[in-house]
Amino acid sequence: MTPHTSQPYRRLSRIMSAAATILVMSAPLFSAPAMAQSMVIKGANILDVTNGELLKNHIVVVDDGRIAKVSPASSIELPKGGEVIDLQGQTLMPGLIDMHVHLTSGGGYHGYERLKLTDERRAILGVVHAEQTLMAGFTTVRNVGAGSFGDVALRDAINDGDIPGPRMLVSGPPIGITGGHCSDNNLLPPEYNITGEGVADGPWAARAAVRRNIKYGADLIKTCSTGGVLSKGTKVGAPQYTLEELTALVDEAHSRGLKVASHAHGSEGIINALKAGADTIEHASFIDDEGIRLAIENDAALSMDIYVTEYILGEGASAGILEESLEKERKTGATQRANFRKAVEAGATIVYGTDAGVYPHGQNAKQLSRMTRFGMTPLQAIQSATVTAAEVMGWGYEVGKIEAGYAADFVAVKGNPLENIELLEEPAAVIKGGVRYR
Ligand code: ARG
Repeated sequence: MTPHTSQPYRRLSRIMSAAATILVMSAPLFSAPAMAQSMVIKGANILDVTNGELLKNHIVVVDDGRIAKVSPASSIELPKGGEVIDLQGQTLMPGLIDMHVHLTSGGGYHGYERLKLTDERRAILGVVHAEQTLMAGFTTVRNVGAGSFGDVALRDAINDGDIPGPRMLVSGPPIGITGGHCSDNNLLPPEYNITGEGVADGPWAARAAVRRNIKYGADLIKTCSTGGVLSKGTKVGAPQYTLEELTALVDEAHSRGLKVASHAHGSEGIINALKAGADTIEHASFIDDEGIRLAIENDAALSMDIYVTEYILGEGASAGILEESLEKERKTGATQRANFRKAVEAGATIVYGTDAGVYPHGQNAKQLSRMTRFGMTPLQAIQSATVTAAEVMGWGYEVGKIEAGYAADFVAVKGNPLENIELLEEPAAVIKGGVRYR
């Protein structure tokens, strides 16, 4: 706007930009890409993920990116025009949701290799990874940690229709302590004087960091309440942040309407995050009975990445993962899987989070079979990656089910995923917002 613009115009344009902000905020779910016409999907058995029932000989009608109708084939007259997709012999499910990815990381850059990546290079990797993720049947993801708001840019590019990718909820830079697992870069000695973007020590600094992330477009807040496996010099079991700091951070986020995901491996840091009111606990490797009880009582969900240990211990060394991190993983992965089983048996809410980005994107579905190996039924595993994830991320009325009014996001497989969950590793069709991508 030029300095000469008249007052009324300026006021109008302020109102218009406020309206645009509201539109942008709701864009992921309410805008359909220009090419999304009506679509009819026939022939498939439809899996009702809420109860495991297979609806035979039903038809889904999609209009303007959303599901308009799900009806028995006999009782409906097919709309004229639009695309007809025949998925004979396949099972149609809601598009899958991964609650823990890092789309701007990956490509095998670990340890000191990571220092090779500029923000621009990461942005380009993000474009590639977003497409791989969508093609794998994951139509919605939560990106929990990215530098320079590269995740915000990626989300917006996808929503604007510039590039293919999943719907994204993004955190921006993770917020954590000096020298901690979140955000800080502990790879370089002090003379380089490097401090990570999301480093914030003390309750007010934590609040300020939350405000900054919201200012630049974050949809949720990611923090760390313990050390991690892949960060140099941190202890997986040791708490990070005091309860006072975490409480301030969560309060600030919640009062602004954002949820908080806390990375936490050790039992004490898990409990601190839960007491502070965190909405999801990421990893939860050493969760104890008290942690499981508190999670259930607080209605907090656990996002336990029980596949990635296989990659780290199998291929991690050649991808540059430091020996100290491999040593931490050797002491973490097996316990995490045992505790996953305990949490499932106790009835804790579990959502599907993989940490894709540590291992190659597009392989997000591999964890489903591990979840069934460590205590879940196939239906429970599918629910963790559909309805339950949608509810926990706050999109329970938008994605995660095949019902009229929901986003037209689907994955289809050849056969019955309740009998063979690995079918989801090779989807036969992927549709997002009424557009077929695969
Ligand atoms: N990003 C996580 C960390 O560095 C990965 C943990 C992977 N290990 C596991 N057993 N889930 O802490």
